[in-house]
Amino acid sequence: MAAKIPSVTSLVSEAQTAFTNTYGGVAAVAVSAPGRVNIIGEHTDYNDGFVFPMALPLVTVIVGNKTESGMCRVKTLTNMADRPLQVQFEAPKSSSSQLTPSSPQLTPSSSQLTPSSSQPTPSSSQLTPSSSQLTPSSPTWANYVKGVVAYFPGLVSGFDAVVTTSVPLGGGLSSSASLEVATYTFLEALTANKPTSLKEKALVCQKAEHKFANVPCGIMDQFISTMGKKGNALLIDCRSLESTLVPLSDPAIALVITNSNVRHSLSGTEYPTRRRQCYQAATTLGKDSLRDATLSDLEKHKGSLSEVVYMRARHAISEIQRTQEAVDVLRKKDYVKFGKLMTDSHNSLRVDYEVSCPELDQLVDIANTCPGVYGARMTGGGFGGCTVTLVSCECVSDLIAHTNATYKGQATFYVCQPEEGAQVLSL
Ligand code: ADP
Ligand code: GAL
Repeated sequence: MAAKIPSVTSLVSEAQTAFTNTYGGVAAVAVSAPGRVNIIGEHTDYNDGFVFPMALPLVTVIVGNKTESGMCRVKTLTNMADRPLQVQFEAPKSSSSQLTPSSPQLTPSSSQLTPSSSQPTPSSSQLTPSSSQLTPSSPTWANYVKGVVAYFPGLVSGFDAVVTTSVPLGGGLSSSASLEVATYTFLEALTANKPTSLKEKALVCQKAEHKFANVPCGIMDQFISTMGKKGNALLIDCRSLESTLVPLSDPAIALVITNSNVRHSLSGTEYPTRRRQCYQAATTLGKDSLRDATLSDLEKHKGSLSEVVYMRARHAISEIQRTQEAVDVLRKKDYVKFGKLMTDSHNSLRVDYEVSCPELDQLVDIANTCPGVYGARMTGGGFGGCTVTLVSCECVSDLIAHTNATYKGQATFYVCQPEEGAQVLSL
């Protein structure tokens, strides 16, 4: 059976009860921000390429109130976060400087990141934390909130908040980005700050993850959590940050997310290594990023690249092409071709990018033997987490039953339609 996804209303009500028990009174503000599944276009965002995610009905909810106490008090209701589950830190004394994502002088943000991207990631000098006293610390989970507070382009006078989520933590469905985007949306609702652009919002949240969680992520997760639209997946050009809605609401097909419920420890260390390898390949090819490279460029320079760097680049270049092709065939409802591209993507991630693991491979193999399945692949950073399978609607329950009977671990299933991005909720 597919997992029952809690309604946003039930999450708000759970958070409201906890708010009253923790701080007293009733929260006047509630917001939500979704997790995401990436349908195709993996490890391409930091190569200036294309990604094709959709927002999920799995969401992070924050309820709370503004205070003038100068303190930010936050409690999370998930048991999966590190302890303590309740924190407080000082509110910034002044507002962070305004970001201008379109500004040409903006440069990549962190020395650990590839300088390849023309993506307008704000530099640390232009986007200094608004409060010098806000720095990352323990517990780890609170850094996602703190980072957004630090870089929020508006004055935060203090707040009390409760966080709850239906996004599995560490499952590759972007619980962290949904926490960041929910935090930003909460701060927008609390402050009389003039609304910032959605791009700026996503960039600030990405910056928080770089600087406060020390994860050199691309822009995909924050972007889709901010800009998702019901009934649509989003094709994002991670170089220009332009995005295109692509309808995905055919009742004849379903996307099944299967959580392997494993997470291998390699996931943290291997990600920055992949970024560096791609940058190295682009530099050797004389390109700003692998977005500008073709497979024939790569072949010409094969002798100047190590075998591993060559393989990494082959994945990135082919995946950028695959993603564009996949969106073209999806528009024609050619699910057979789309599914094949999904499985090709998985094989490229498994063989050339080496970010899969036996559990994800097994889930993809099982799915591909089931009737009605068009294709399947791992989704997200890899080394555990989830797969995504495109399947004919009437075959969903057989897919789940067959996976349960043969997968060596314990899987969880979500059958999802594309949902809205972050929202302020009416109470
Ligand atoms: P993913 O974003 O794919 O779920 P990550 O490992 O990148 O996985 O991020 C998971 C981390 O984000 C958690 O370990 C925790 O620190 C933080 N996090 C996400 N959601 C919450 C939440 N609701 N409450 C507390 N911490 C959270
Ligand atoms: C995620 C990361 C994204 C993207 C993805 C791989 O973990 O946050 O930015 O790079 O991995 O496609």
